[in-house]
Amino acid sequence: MLNIVVLVSGGGTNLQALIDAEKRGEIKGGRICSVISSRPDAFALTRATQAGIATRVLQRREFNSQGAYDDALLQCLADCKADLVVLAGFMTIIGDKVIAQYRNRIMNIHPSLIPCFCGEGYYGMKVHRCVLERGMQVTGATVHFVNEVCDGGPIILQKAVAVRDGDTPETLQQRVMEEAEWQLLPQAVSLFCEGKLTVSGNRVYQQDEKQQEDSV
Ligand code: GRF
Repeated sequence: MLNIVVLVSGGGTNLQALIDAEKRGEIKGGRICSVISSRPDAFALTRATQAGIATRVLQRREFNSQGAYDDALLQCLADCKADLVVLAGFMTIIGDKVIAQYRNRIMNIHPSLIPCFCGEGYYGMKVHRCVLERGMQVTGATVHFVNEVCDGGPIILQKAVAVRDGDTPETLQQRVMEEAEWQLLPQAVSLFCEGKLTVSGNRVYQQDEKQQEDSV
C-alpha cells in the first residue's frame, strides 16, 4: 500500500472525492495517510478529521524563507513516509528542492484544459472568468505531475466539459468540479498507486501504452 499525502488550503471538495473513492475501494494500492493544510481554518481539515485521517497545519508565514519552508515540508512528508503527494487546491508555492526530491510523485489538479488558462495567476474563479470572457465552448480539468514550471508538468489525465449559454464563473466552476475534477483526481491517484503510470519526457503513459508505441 502506498502512502498518499494530500495538501490542501480550502474547502477540500477534491480531498472529499479522494476520501469517498478510497471508501468505495477505488484507490487501488494506496491509502490517504495524512492531510497537510496551509491554513488552520481550511474546511478540508474537518473533512480529514471526520474520515479519521491525521492532519497537520504548515503555514508559509511561519518560515522566513522558501528554503526553510521546503525543509519543513520535506520533514513532514518524510514523517508520513509519503509515496505520493497530491495537491488538491493547495495555494502555497512548493520550492524546487521538494519538487526534485519527489520528481513525478507530486500531482496537481487544475481547473482548465492545460495549456489554456494556466500558469502564474490562473487559479480559482479567475480561470473560469477568463474561459467565459474568451467565449470558449469547451473547458475542463487537468491532472498533471508538478515540475519547476507552474502548471507545466507532464499531463496525466484531462477531461473536457461543455460551456453552456448563461454560465457564470460560479456555475462553470461547479460543473467542472462535478464532471471532471472529482472524477479525474481519484482515477489518476489510483493509476499511480497501481504502478500504471510511466513518465517519458513530457508524456505520461498508462500501463502498456508505451510498450505498444515502442513496438510500432
Ligand atoms: C479546485 O477548483 C481545484 O481545481 C483548484 O482549486 C480548487 C480546490 O477546491 N486547484 P477544493 O478545495 O478541492 O474544494
